[in-house]
Amino acid sequence: MDKKLLKQLNDQINKEMDSMYVYFAMAAYLEANNWPGFGAWMQKQSTEEMGHVMKIYRFINDRGDQVVLDSIEKPAATYKSVKDVFQKALAHEKKITVSINKLVDAARASDDKATEIFLQWFVTEQVEEEKSVGDVLTALEMVKDAPGALIMLDHQLGARQ
Ligand SMILES: [Fe+2]
Ligand SMILES: [Fe+2]
Repeated sequence: MDKKLLKQLNDQINKEMDSMYVYFAMAAYLEANNWPGFGAWMQKQSTEEMGHVMKIYRFINDRGDQVVLDSIEKPAATYKSVKDVFQKALAHEKKITVSINKLVDAARASDDKATEIFLQWFVTEQVEEEKSVGDVLTALEMVKDAPGALIMLDHQLGARQ
């Protein structure tokens, strides 16, 4: 694989790892603040990110190249509210979408069709990711600070498969 493209794929592994770690920290914050449902939802989100890491890891290996890991930053431990957590999660996903789109551009620029096709899954996945976090945020904006509604939403999200 083209060295620059390989570097970008390795960087994407780092970003997916960072997502996993950021969501893990968000889950810890939510659970510590007595929101077990929101926490469980975010925990699942974190686990999904590790799945994304593995997909890229497998692809790089299958192409006969080497995965090179980099360090990941310490995630934030405190947030202003549940809504603040989900706002930051949505902003994070939007950043990831930009990064995936840049990867597609890079695959096209180096005429690497296998990588371009591989990335299609991630393009579609980002639509899903932004929607699922956005849906929670919309619900949070609707309930505002009504404790009863917030507790119900927490229950509902705890049931996420
Ligand atoms: Fe991801
Ligand atoms: Fe994601």
